[in-house]
Amino acid sequence: MDTEALKRATGYRAAEYVRSGMVVGLGSGSTARYATLRIAELLRERTLQDIVAIPTSEATAELAREGGIPLTTLEEQPAIDLTIDGADEVDPQLNLIKGLGGAQLREKIVAYASRREIIVVDESKLVQRLGSQAPVPVEVIRFGLRSTQAALERTEAAVTLRLRNGEPFITDEGNYILDCRYTPYIDNPPALAAALKTIPGVVEHGLFLGMAQAVVVASPNGVRVIEK
Ligand code: A5P
Repeated sequence: MDTEALKRATGYRAAEYVRSGMVVGLGSGSTARYATLRIAELLRERTLQDIVAIPTSEATAELAREGGIPLTTLEEQPAIDLTIDGADEVDPQLNLIKGLGGAQLREKIVAYASRREIIVVDESKLVQRLGSQAPVPVEVIRFGLRSTQAALERTEAAVTLRLRNGEPFITDEGNYILDCRYTPYIDNPPALAAALKTIPGVVEHGLFLGMAQAVVVASPNGVRVIEK
């Protein structure tokens, strides 16, 4: 199977967790996209009914609208039954790094409001230690960027401002992202998560600790589910 087929297989498998009547969180990224497409398909063929969904990004909202998935908001539905989202790294305890797509702030708010968070990845995302492959994306407000960056560097990170087409990448909430790389890996993720939260200017970071209940993993040998 090629990469795209693996992503599709994972997204489709995760969509099987959705039941009629649920409030569903729709994740962002190229793997979660397939779960959204599959949910739209199941609604069209009426295998699923009465779903309302909360998207984690503008891009996902557009995809859901195109597929005819009824959307709602956390204001109308503050509790979500199930969210299907992607990730950039998954460790053996199902802790995650998310946000290489730039949506981790909304993704974390949605994950926190969800009874069940299901993650869809291919096996290249499985790591023994968080940070060994991916940086931790940190969403920061624009004011005070240089001093926020300096504070992040004091957590022993190599920090880079995320760019797109040579300009700073702007999140859906209008903020910047500073990508923080910890070499060779993050020694103590809970301590780092707590430290990042103490820095003024940091809105949210991409460490999702203890938030995922299941991970659907695709490999050339097939799709498997790791549950907590
Ligand atoms: C989006 O901000 C991220 O958290 C994505 O979930 C992550 O980048 C995974 O995307 P892919 O499935 O495209 O790798």
